[in-house]
Amino acid sequence: MEKLLVGKTAIVTGAARGIGKAVALKFAREGADVVMLDILEKELKESKAEVEAFGTKVEAIAADLTVEGLVMDTVDTVVRKFGTVDILMNCAGISREMPLNEMSMETFDKIMEVNLRSVVLMIKAVLPIMIQNKCGNICSIASGAALRGLPGSSAYSASKAALLCLSQALGDEQRPNGIRVNVICPGPVDTEMFQKSAAREFILKAGGDLFSPDTVANGALFLVSELSQGVSSQVLTMRGFNRW
Ligand SMILES: NC(=O)c1ccc[n+]([C@@H]2O[C@H](COP(=O)([O-])OP(=O)(O)OC[C@H]3O[C@@H](n4cnc5c(N)ncnc54)[C@H](O)[C@@H]3O)[C@@H](O)[C@H]2O)c1
Repeated sequence: MEKLLVGKTAIVTGAARGIGKAVALKFAREGADVVMLDILEKELKESKAEVEAFGTKVEAIAADLTVEGLVMDTVDTVVRKFGTVDILMNCAGISREMPLNEMSMETFDKIMEVNLRSVVLMIKAVLPIMIQNKCGNICSIASGAALRGLPGSSAYSASKAALLCLSQALGDEQRPNGIRVNVICPGPVDTEMFQKSAAREFILKAGGDLFSPDTVANGALFLVSELSQGVSSQVLTMRGFNRW
């Protein structure tokens, strides 16, 4: 089969490890030039070396994506070096597990800041370019917790549900500009985030299969490529079960 992303420039957030890294590898294998963003400088550098093996242009920029000025500067740098942005893949996210009554507002705000506000910052930074191009593709990783709140993760679930609805609304808004916006809701995925989760046993018992990050990256490839031509404002649920 022909490579699916030849000639495309993709920004992938949270690309140092886990799902974001799997997505960066997948997109490069499919011929895309890839910009990898993450707050973890060392891991990002190591992952960049792996992504470069596919021979496309790869840039890794260490940045805290909650900082508005940094996000704007980063996207400016990308446009200067790559000429444009065709795909924005939002994978960066955090989870902090505890009952809501025990959660400080600082922690609540942090979860919202990373999982929702930083995605909005990324989207607002790339939208002017995509609107000018009359074409673009934005895809974000929400969670199964966006569809059915996960006990012990009220704030996380709320942040992901908000991301889901934002993506649907944005997809409808940007349809006249040729920009597609979709969201993926994975069940448990075998990454550091999941392995550290206190809810691991509960989720596995009730939630079905544990996915590999590569499987989620397959879903991302489908949504950002012509394989899903015309599909926008949609939710791709990737779970082995339909309840917790
Ligand atoms: N692992 C799962 O079971 C699972 C299930 C559903 C959804 N998700 C979602 O998938 C996405 C990827 O998760 P993962 O499992 O690969 O977790 P992970 O912790 O391995 O990766 C998340 C990445 O985001 C980066 N990041 C966090 N805050 C950042 C910031 N402020 N600026 C820049 N980068 C930042 C981290 O450094 C990390 O590399 C997350 O949004 C997560 O909520 C994960």
